[in-house]
Parts: sequence; C-alpha cells; structure tokens
Amino acid sequence: METINWNDIGFGYIKTDYNVRCYYRNGEWGKIEVSSSENVSIHMAATALHYGQEAFEGLKAFKGKDGKVRLFRWEENAKRLQSSAKGILMPEVPIDLFKKMVKKVIRKNQRFIPPYGKGASLYIRHVLFGTGPQVGVKPANEYLLIIFVTPVGPYFKDGFSPVSMLITREYDRAAPLGTGKFKVGGNYAASLASIKKAHDNGYANVLYLDAREKKYIDECGPANFFGIKNNTYITPRSDSILPSITNKSLITLAEHMGLKTERRKVELKELETFEEVGACGTAAVISPINKITDTENGKIYTYGNKPGKISTRLYEKLQAIQTGDEEDIFGWVEIVE
Ligand code: PLP
Ligand code: COI
Repeated sequence: METINWNDIGFGYIKTDYNVRCYYRNGEWGKIEVSSSENVSIHMAATALHYGQEAFEGLKAFKGKDGKVRLFRWEENAKRLQSSAKGILMPEVPIDLFKKMVKKVIRKNQRFIPPYGKGASLYIRHVLFGTGPQVGVKPANEYLLIIFVTPVGPYFKDGFSPVSMLITREYDRAAPLGTGKFKVGGNYAASLASIKKAHDNGYANVLYLDAREKKYIDECGPANFFGIKNNTYITPRSDSILPSITNKSLITLAEHMGLKTERRKVELKELETFEEVGACGTAAVISPINKITDTENGKIYTYGNKPGKISTRLYEKLQAIQTGDEEDIFGWVEIVE
C-alpha cells in the first residue's frame, strides 16, 4: 500500500480504492455500483463532451479526535446538485440516493480519511454528466453520476495564511443571466484563462466583478468573497455566483458570535473600507486576503499580512464544529458509521 504523508498534503488528486456510480437510463436511476476503475467509457457524442452538460459537487468528511467520521452539511450539497442539474436540464439526483452513495464511498475508502489534527480531510467529489449521444444541441437521454473521494489539504498552499487576488476586466466568469449560480463545468472552463493570468502575475486567484457593470464584487475564483467592518460580516448578493455552503455557515456563525451580517451588493470601491477580507469555500475553507490589485484602475487594496481577528475566530469555530471538537449546535454534522 502506498503511504500518504499526512503532514504534507495539498489539494490534488490521490487515487483511492473505490468510487461509486449510478446510471440514469429510460427515465430512472439504476442500482448503485461500486467500481475500482478510475476510468469511464462513454459515447464520443456524449452531451457532456460537446455541450458541457455536466455538474459537480464537493464536500468534506473529517476525522475527529474520537475517531468518528463527520460529514459536513451534505444535504446542502445534495440540494445544490439538484439545482445545477435542473439548470442545465439533467435529471435531479434524489436526496436519498445522494446520501447512500456518499456514505458508501466513504465507507469503502476508510483508509484514505486523513487522521485528526493534520488540517486535512476527505474531499468527496460528485460528477453528474450527460452520457447519451446528441449532435444537435439538446439534453442527453442518459446520465451517469460518479462519486469519488480524495484526501486533501488546504486549497491555497499556505493554508490559513493570507493570499493575494487580482481583479481583471479582461475576462468574465459568468454572464448575468448565465450559469454562474450552478456548479457546472462550463463556469470553470470560462475561468481558466483569468486564473492563469492571476497565477502568472503571482496572485493566488481572481476576484471577479459583476459582468454587466464591473461595479460590484462577485466572487473569488472557486470561493465566495466576504468583508468585515464595524463588527459586520458582509458578503455579495449576486445571481451569477455560486451559493456557497461555507459562506452560509459563516453567516450563521458570525451572527452567533454577535456580529451583524449583510448579504447585499458590494461595490468595488467599498474594498477600501473593509478591515478584513477573505475567500470562503469547501476547498478554500477561509483564506484571508492581504492584497487585491486592480491593475486596470491602478489600485491596490491592502489588508493585514496576518489573518484578522474575526476571520480567525470564524475559521476556528467552523473547523471545531467540522471535526467535532466543539458541539454541533446547528445540526450541521452527520456521523458516518
Ligand atoms: N464559488 C465557487 C465558484 C466555487 O466553486 C465554490 C466551491 O464549491 C464556492 C464558491 C464555495 O462553495 P462551497 O462553500 O459550497 O464549497
Ligand atoms: C469546492 O470548494 O468544493 C470546490 O468545488 C472548489 C473547486 C472548484 C476546487
């Protein structure tokens, strides 16, 4: 058996033993299949390949001090996958099927769940896609849902330490009435060139502006954006960003900690007024931001080089609930037996 160095694990793909699959054919979902193959064989005219009829999900399971495995808010991901599926005319995955498959794939890959205390977790990735052939632009009549797992560390390489973001008006990630609110592959294809530009210039990722006016903040690469000032947690309201489950959780935690919270349009110029800013998501957890550069406007917004006080409290609280160090008073965690 290969050994994994749990102390030095990034956000990447590590082969595990099994994945689980379920086909949708003739208008219904089939039996859950367990596979040890990393490959899929699909028709060359599959709609996923030609027309991007594909959606994915990502959630995490954590090992606690007590050795128990905790799954964080899986039902939210199940609902979001249904919303994405609906958005691009794929069949919705029943919540119960989603749950059974997630639990099965975790149980089958126990040895890949990172031990407690390493800042790592088991990332559970769903992919739902059209396998049936079409040459005209139409939805497929057959679909496949695969769930695989892979152990992961932090998405941004230094973990909970500040990263920099680039604003560029050269690219949009999602159109105002487009698919930005769904977790579909096309949004990520649309983001690749801008993310490359950010990386080439030494930034961790891109801070996207609204595509229509370039006046408001949308989100941060594969994560939502938040800013903190005057004891208030503020996060953009926009129809072209992914409704982040982490962000939703942070809003609840912030309120619980006595902060005010606002989900509203956030103007670009408001960046000057924030005391702390950050990116949040399943992969990113909380990544504090220390610098946002808007080259085209010649502006650089700077924040602390150390994570801010409130971001740190939110981060610690979220992680404590996820690993079971703190009581799950919000009912977010389910133990996988
Ligand atoms: N925004 C985008 C574009 C994402 O890909 C993700 C990751 O899932 C997020 C935000 C964060 O969402 P969540 O907290 O549900 O993982
Ligand atoms: C996640 O946070 O789960 C994501 O899907 C981010 C991913 C695109 C890297």
